[in-house]
Amino acid sequence: TSQFRITLLPGDGIGPEIINVAVDVLKVVGKKFDIEFGFQEALIGGAAIDATGEPLPTATLDICRNSDAILLAAIGGYKWDSLPPNQRPEGGLLGLRAGLELFANLRPAKIIPELIDASTLKKEVIEGVDIMVVRELTGGIYFGKPRGIFATETGEKRGVNTMAYNESEIERIGRVAFETAKKRTGKLCSVDKANVLDVSQLWRSRITELGKEYPDVELSHMYVDNAAMQLVRSPKQFDTIVTGNLFGDILSDVAAMLTGSIGMLPSASLGASGPGVYEPVHGSAPDIAGLDKANPLAQVLSAAMMLRYGLNQATAADHIEQAVSLILQRGFRTGDIMSPGMTLLGCRTMGDALIQALEEV
Ligand code: NAD
Ligand code: IPM
Ligand code: MN
Repeated sequence: TSQFRITLLPGDGIGPEIINVAVDVLKVVGKKFDIEFGFQEALIGGAAIDATGEPLPTATLDICRNSDAILLAAIGGYKWDSLPPNQRPEGGLLGLRAGLELFANLRPAKIIPELIDASTLKKEVIEGVDIMVVRELTGGIYFGKPRGIFATETGEKRGVNTMAYNESEIERIGRVAFETAKKRTGKLCSVDKANVLDVSQLWRSRITELGKEYPDVELSHMYVDNAAMQLVRSPKQFDTIVTGNLFGDILSDVAAMLTGSIGMLPSASLGASGPGVYEPVHGSAPDIAGLDKANPLAQVLSAAMMLRYGLNQATAADHIEQAVSLILQRGFRTGDIMSPGMTLLGCRTMGDALIQALEEV
């Protein structure tokens, strides 16, 4: 028997609804593959602010550090939207990523054939798309200093954030990206804004240098505005994309929409060592929270990534992914991926369908 300590961070909005489904799924695959999960729940985001006054209590960071992997749902909501950045739910998530040094965020956007009709793009454009966005997660404009709202000499306020990368930060995310590309089709596109930003010039030159160590990877560079356009125009040209924190945040939402819904996209946030955080790309969806309408599949697929990347349980991960395919083949859909002739389910009934499918694959 393999034993793992898993920290669950349900967070806010639809978070508790979708993480429940993922936990049920993990329990079933655990029984099947002789994996024993010890689940412990901790507070983050708005839920943590309400209970303790802080978005990332020290206790939460400690529990996370002492676990084998962390499954996070989502944080944020209207209630906390007027708080200053570091006191907001989002500050908790950023603190977790920084605290665990999770500098590499892998966001795979792969078209599931059953869902082609759910995309707003044409079938010919998206058929066969299989992209991995490697997003730098602990640097760039999210963390650069100076930052804040300052008074100017004229008495006007000035909001400041700084986009900055050290060479070492570029190099370590670059290595993850080259290694990722090597295991896939060997194509890597680095996305920046080197025509305008100094930080991007350094980014481009370091990535180019690093490329010499990976002669079997075909490296290209693209400006971020063009990349956003190309992702929608002709996404099949991309395999692995590497980019900074903010550009990666935006481009991964674009990539998500290729697959039909952001409710389908999982991610893994990894460091050089220690436990990773496995989380959907989407947020807490406050507009549908508590209505049993959320698509739990991004969360479930994040649990599969946790098994694959964090716990070395590829067979169990495959099993979950096959069960997801099976329920989609059967025509089960949540509202976000609904199309005519399909069966509309809620978050909970989608979970039930998945549990049943797990017994059949
Ligand atoms: P969002 O991703 O929460 O929602 C955008 C849209 O997608 C909404 O219409 C929502 O209903 C829909 N959606 C998202 N996930 C879905 C799912 N699983 N099933 C069905 N529909 C889904 O983004 P937002 O509205 O810009 O942000 C809401 C809150 O979430 C904010 O507080 C934001 O900061 C936070 N957020 C958190 C994370 C995270 O925890 N990793 C990520 C993004 C946004
Ligand atoms: C994401 C989210 C977060 C980010 C926010 C909530 C801090 O949008 O995980 O993509 O910007 O990284
Ligand atoms: Mn985002």
